[in-house]
Amino acid sequence: MLRQTTYLTKRYGVPEGWTLPVYERDGGYQQAKRALSMPREALVEEMKAANIRGRGGAGFPMGVKWSFMPWPPKPEKPHYLVINADEGEPGTFKDRTIMELDPHAVVEGCIIGCFGIGAHAAYIYVRDELHLSKARLWGAIEEARAKGYLGAKPFGIDYPVEVYVHTGAGAYICGEETSLLNSLEGKRGEPRLKPPFPAQAGAFGMPTTVNNLETIAAVPVALAMGGDAFSKLSDLHDQKDGGCRLYGVSGHVNNPGVFEACVGLTLRELIYDLGGGVKGGELLGVIPGGSSCPILRPDETVNAPDPKSPLHRWHGKNVLDVPMGVETYRALGTMLGTCCAIVLNKNTDIVLAMHNLMRFYRHESCGQCTPCREGSAWLFRILDRMVHGEATMEELDRLHEIADNIMGNTICAFGEGTAMPALGFLRKYRKEFEEHVRTKGKSGTGRLAL
Ligand code: NAI
Ligand code: SF4
Repeated sequence: MLRQTTYLTKRYGVPEGWTLPVYERDGGYQQAKRALSMPREALVEEMKAANIRGRGGAGFPMGVKWSFMPWPPKPEKPHYLVINADEGEPGTFKDRTIMELDPHAVVEGCIIGCFGIGAHAAYIYVRDELHLSKARLWGAIEEARAKGYLGAKPFGIDYPVEVYVHTGAGAYICGEETSLLNSLEGKRGEPRLKPPFPAQAGAFGMPTTVNNLETIAAVPVALAMGGDAFSKLSDLHDQKDGGCRLYGVSGHVNNPGVFEACVGLTLRELIYDLGGGVKGGELLGVIPGGSSCPILRPDETVNAPDPKSPLHRWHGKNVLDVPMGVETYRALGTMLGTCCAIVLNKNTDIVLAMHNLMRFYRHESCGQCTPCREGSAWLFRILDRMVHGEATMEELDRLHEIADNIMGNTICAFGEGTAMPALGFLRKYRKEFEEHVRTKGKSGTGRLAL
């Protein structure tokens, strides 16, 4: 059910909404002050009850992640909070709106987060191109420091907290948490093997929690409301997928943008009610949560006869009518990802769409693992031949093989983030790909844009 909310976007569009006076007028920093006086365990329990699933794409429960930090902190092993605001996923542009329009929510979330995990410093890692985001974050940090909310004694309480903005250099892979940590340390931005997870050895080898920017910005709201009440905003509260969140929609829709709603919005509501419907014709497919998530076709129906399936309630329904949740989408064979959908209309050349995406992955692979480095390059090369009418049916089958061989054979999720959408395109649009090969490209529309 479409339930739009304004908990996270209250100050969007408000004049000077990113400044401290406006934030404080709405009760800003009251939760940080309260949190610093709470027992740490109570704060973490409250966050667990909120059921905030990581908003960066993986959907890991945030409160549980905080609870993984070793306790009590050892003096020789300082803890760190790192906020991932790299947001490089194609089609994803929600974190940027928070940084630009409500940066104080991020700073307040960082203070609460630092206390929750036993850290005294938070680093917000922002990609370089986002100049306004960085300026607004720095502005908010300076305002908060000047008011005594950051520094040696925030709100007069003896728990020092500092927040810093760190600039990335535009590599997509630096959005992967361990690659981001390497980059933060001044090293080459390449993923590390996990385990150890950052909670054991993260920034500078110390216990670290990495949270997505929207995740941390939701913390003051969840604390103010109470964890359980926040979680119950969601239609998927029973699946421990709580609260409200930002949804994005782009591509072939009449009204692209970022919208806030309770967890459990359906793709149909996102595309037709919020996105204003498909622009330029019927729907061909939708990439649900950033480009790493396998595409969904509008004619798919849910097949979940098992009562234990998180999808069972929607058995027999159209996929567009399934609430967008971490578990429901996993069971659908795709991923919720960042909840930012890319819409493709019927005029789109599906081969060109996959070619375009695979060019991106080939370019952004860090090159450490052979299956990812070579596989992404081969996927692109064969698709390039296909686009030029040169590929054979055998090569079409080889695309499947290459993608299959990437799965499960790489250091980080990038490999699977390349192979899964590739397999999604190939399996769901097999007929179109075959036709494209048979007609040497003449069956395609040759169009990506409208
Ligand atoms: P992951 O599932 O490996 O980890 C999720 C989080 O949980 C990490 O912070 C990890 O450290 C933590 N974690 C998991 N198991 C743990 C354990 N046993 N002990 C301690 N901590 C544990 O997923 P990953 O690689 O962090 O993210 C992949 C996702 O990122 C993809 O699903 C994709 O949707 C998304 N993504 C988002 C982008 C963006 O711009 N927002 C860009 C690219 C990908
Ligand atoms: Fe690098 Fe790809 Fe291996 Fe990730 S999977 S470490 S991006 S080569």
